[in-house]
Amino acid sequence: MGDTTLNFTLLHRICSVVVLLCVVHLSVTLFFYVRTLDLRISFLQNQETQIPTQIENSTVSSKYNISETTKNSAVSTRVILTPNATEKAARALDKCPDPSPLLVGPLRVEFSDPVTLDGVRSQNPHLQSGGRYKPKDCVALQKVALIIPFRHRDEHLKYWLYYLHPILQRQQLDYGVYVINQYGEETFNRAKLLNVGYVEALKEYDYDCFVFSDVDLIPMDDRNTYKCYSQPRHLSVSMDKFGFNLPYLQYFGGVSSLSKEQYLKINGFPNNYWGWGGEDDDIYNRLSFKGMSISRPDGTIGKCRMIRHQRDKKNEPNPQRFDRIAHTRETMNRDGINSLEYKVVNVEKDQLYTKIIVDVGKPSR
Ligand code: BGC
Repeated sequence: MGDTTLNFTLLHRICSVVVLLCVVHLSVTLFFYVRTLDLRISFLQNQETQIPTQIENSTVSSKYNISETTKNSAVSTRVILTPNATEKAARALDKCPDPSPLLVGPLRVEFSDPVTLDGVRSQNPHLQSGGRYKPKDCVALQKVALIIPFRHRDEHLKYWLYYLHPILQRQQLDYGVYVINQYGEETFNRAKLLNVGYVEALKEYDYDCFVFSDVDLIPMDDRNTYKCYSQPRHLSVSMDKFGFNLPYLQYFGGVSSLSKEQYLKINGFPNNYWGWGGEDDDIYNRLSFKGMSISRPDGTIGKCRMIRHQRDKKNEPNPQRFDRIAHTRETMNRDGINSLEYKVVNVEKDQLYTKIIVDVGKPSR
């Protein structure tokens, strides 16, 4: 009887030890399982956000939103950072390739098909207010402001927007369209409106390139990229109006582009060419007096069509233009961006453009 009791007590102890060992074993297994699960989740989250897993310094916290778990734990191996949308986009994007792979080459340009602004708006759903666009898959090579001197040419503007927006998007530019509308019915002043466009566009965005385009000129090939080059660029080199030729070698009218630096080097454009003609020749003179040359696309890529129209009222040929062109060298340092005066009357933001109505004054008699 005494032996039986002894055996039973021994067996009971052995069983207790075995049960205890099992509990310890299970606890350890559970502990390690939970730990590795934790790490796996953390790894997957980091893979998704594709950002560094360590906090480098306090400035990081202003760029990324740190999750609550991280904020509350003093030391943690699973720092989960969620970048804000712009940071994430900027980090992931490469520069856009040059030339853009989206270009198609020669284009059919016709002015007989009717075009409506609503139609153009719905065909360009990626535009932002003010006629702004930037490619979403890459960082554009240049930030381009397109400046259009304007008055009473709504029909032409429709075609310009209809053709140019898709072209500029295929060219993968970060761009904005500025229609600079001369207020009132005084004599038209194209070059002064271009100066206003330069100043007003820069108030909105850090543009590095300015394309100055007449409202009635449409490129016939999207390889004629509306951007800036190491020398000022003349883009409308082969116009139907001139039998697809340059009218003369120094011709710089129609569509041209200047970088900010090139524009400032010549003190911008003249403000005192009222009426038609001469201001583009003055700009050419300024560029050549400052030692720059004109770059141009070849005659095929540079083809463009002009919308035929009657001469506008209050834009008669300027009889003073020959005399003014002859004196560019003396006048260019005092007449330009450094002497520009105007009053903004209204700014209209449309999906397709920013229209700035501006009072540029009148010719001094
Ligand atoms: C005028 C320019 C014009 C060119 C072509 C020249 O006589 O001065 O302003 O662009 O002709 O029409």
